[in-house]
Amino acid sequence: MKHMLLSLALAAGMMVATATDAAAAKQQPGSFKVGNKTFLLNDKPFVVKAAEVHYPRIPREYWEQRIQMCKALGMNTLCIYIFWNAHEQQEGVFDFTGNNDIRAFVQLAQKNGMWVIVRPGPYVCAEWEMGGLPWWLLKKKDIRLREQDPYFMERLEIFEQKVAHQLADLTIDKGGPIIMVQVENEYGSYGEDKPYISAVRDCLRRSGFDKVELFQCDWSSNFTKNGLDDLTWTMNFGTGANIDQEFKKLGELRPNSPKMCSEFWSGWFDKWGGRHETRGAEAMVDGISQMLDRGISFSLYMTHGGTNWGHWAGANSPGFAPDVTSYDYDAPINEAGQTTDKYWTLRKAMEKYSGDFDPATGTWGKSRKLPAVPKEYPTIAIPSFELTEFAPLGYGSDVVDTKGGLKTFEEMDFGWGAMIYSTKLPEIPVQSVLKVEAHDYAQVFINDQFIGKLDRVKHETSLILPAVKKGDELAILVEGMGRINFGRAIKDFKGIVSEVVLSADLDGVETTWKPRQWTKARIKDDYSVAVEALREVQTFSISTYQLSTNAGYYRGYFNLKKTGDTFLNLENWGKGQVYVNGHAIGRYWYIGPQQTLYVPGCWLKRGKNEVIVLDVMGPRGEKTIEGLQKPIIDRLNLDRPQTHRLEGQNLDLSGEKPAIEGEFKPGNGWQEVKFQQPVSGRYVCIEALNSHNNREYCCIAEWYMLGADGTRLSREPWQVAYCDDEDIESGNKTGDKIFDLQESTYWSTNRGVQFPHYLIIDLGQDQTFTGFQYLPRVEAGAPESIRQYRIYVKSSLFKGL
Ligand code: GLA
Repeated sequence: MKHMLLSLALAAGMMVATATDAAAAKQQPGSFKVGNKTFLLNDKPFVVKAAEVHYPRIPREYWEQRIQMCKALGMNTLCIYIFWNAHEQQEGVFDFTGNNDIRAFVQLAQKNGMWVIVRPGPYVCAEWEMGGLPWWLLKKKDIRLREQDPYFMERLEIFEQKVAHQLADLTIDKGGPIIMVQVENEYGSYGEDKPYISAVRDCLRRSGFDKVELFQCDWSSNFTKNGLDDLTWTMNFGTGANIDQEFKKLGELRPNSPKMCSEFWSGWFDKWGGRHETRGAEAMVDGISQMLDRGISFSLYMTHGGTNWGHWAGANSPGFAPDVTSYDYDAPINEAGQTTDKYWTLRKAMEKYSGDFDPATGTWGKSRKLPAVPKEYPTIAIPSFELTEFAPLGYGSDVVDTKGGLKTFEEMDFGWGAMIYSTKLPEIPVQSVLKVEAHDYAQVFINDQFIGKLDRVKHETSLILPAVKKGDELAILVEGMGRINFGRAIKDFKGIVSEVVLSADLDGVETTWKPRQWTKARIKDDYSVAVEALREVQTFSISTYQLSTNAGYYRGYFNLKKTGDTFLNLENWGKGQVYVNGHAIGRYWYIGPQQTLYVPGCWLKRGKNEVIVLDVMGPRGEKTIEGLQKPIIDRLNLDRPQTHRLEGQNLDLSGEKPAIEGEFKPGNGWQEVKFQQPVSGRYVCIEALNSHNNREYCCIAEWYMLGADGTRLSREPWQVAYCDDEDIESGNKTGDKIFDLQESTYWSTNRGVQFPHYLIIDLGQDQTFTGFQYLPRVEAGAPESIRQYRIYVKSSLFKGL
């Protein structure tokens, strides 16, 4: 009997505690410290092998299985962000229950013998709505986010106290599993502000994280900007990076510091309209092995990515690149908690590093057997079912404000959903041009007839309107997507954020109109609103708006004999949100790459299940959905390719004189080039003549232009005006990667397409430069880095485009 129980426990993946694991600590106070070139756990050298997982991206019912999956990979620690906006969705109203129960998550980690690293922000980035900051901070329009703005600091203090109330007694010195706490997140790619970082540190200490080890994470190129003397510094970089190069500067500045990569990116996130990102298993495992061979600690970001339920996906910047719902991340444990080839390759490698590391000899002791891999949850297919009930979008609108001018969502006291703005027009007897900046996806109607759309992703801000009569109604339906989570653009107001201007040529006179009186109706993205809209339509109540689209709420049901994880196929639908049995499952958009939405079996039930689709465009085909056993997360459905060269475009530089020409040095790292004298223009053409490794294709990781004072110009308005060739087959290696603020992503041309290669940046307006900075790929030896180059600068677009 005893024997049977033990084998059952092993089959279920239960763990046997070892001397260095968190469960063995049995709530006894312990210590985690920074020693000489190593971390010390209870005074013994310790290498952190952490798995990054995010509790709000995993249904609570599955937390333990995912934790055990990480442990069975050979990890000894879990690394978690704390997502402020998930816990304080309304100012002053806190939620640490259910899927937000961080205390339960940390205790579950401890029960399973895992240490925990906590990263409480306030900002977390993480491809999460507004990088984890609550949208309601933007109700104070002039707020300075992530700075010592009094209101920001006041709210931050309150929040961190709440976090500490949940977790501060779970630090290792008090018998808990928490070994380290992070201060802010990658501040170097936001600014330079040591007093602010110090204030966040002090706030965490005051809140109750009084003794635990505090650390910062940043990139090797910028960590010195905000590195505080009394904190541990760790580096973030991804698969493929040159490990020695990444720690070079740290080694010079702090030769005795233990080394840790706080985020070693296993894959990457996906954006709507781009290919699914992947990174090779071998390359990932090679990076981890290189670190472990040197006794370097790491956290694998992500080990299991999970899902951006509901409206929690963020958006990247510069530009606006909203993230998809799946946070699969090409991680070793896929979105549905299943093992992948990457998982097994990593697990095999990790066995070698399962003993104890001896920093004196630089070797790993005898390996231990890794715990058994826990069972996966079953998946099911659901036959196609129809969504027969329908309520037009207008039924979902609640507050209607008929007075005054335009307002953003935030000014209408509302975080997520869509808004309809409408106004009566004057007589305009000819076609006019409508100009408006709408965040994020606008559809324009005249007298309820659809005229066109404005997609922020594509920088669309103007549209031709037909001639109108006095009193005709202009309605603009604006759907907000995730708020930007990276860079200065996190101050991302939703709705109409500019004036609305109509202009037309009236008998040779350019005439403009700026409607002042707008009716505004909010449509909250919320399950209860959807249910109410579907109820109202049955009682024949009058809706506020009757737009002539199929946009609205659709409901259908399916029956199950047994539950299981499934992937709902939304390929017939346009753009919107899905609710299953009241759970917000996430956004879909026909453009892809994600076409299915993951539904965990624990949110389904035997018998009747309800699905509501809120589609802001209307379905594109049959109003049906089916459940698949495998996801579709890499199927694009674009009206035009994602590359930046239109058909027929052939750049012609004849007669153009380069502003500068020269040769880059081989190898990794930033290079700076100064012009002989300042140059002005709006379009910067980079011509690459050949590469250092003499291959036919070229790559650039990042690019900056230096302004008149020699500092980097903001890249927020930048767009790629032309790119002769881009590799979109092996991932997203489009031209815009050279200004996406991420050193690990890069533009690459296709193999076999010969030099010279060209990329033209449109800076949005004329600017004056004194030079530029270039970063080749971060992998060892900077593969495909450019040797000879020429730079051309012009105020108008080049010939042939
Ligand atoms: C940075 C951030 C993370 C995440 C990754 C990219 O490292 O710190 O939160 O956004 O980039 O996935």
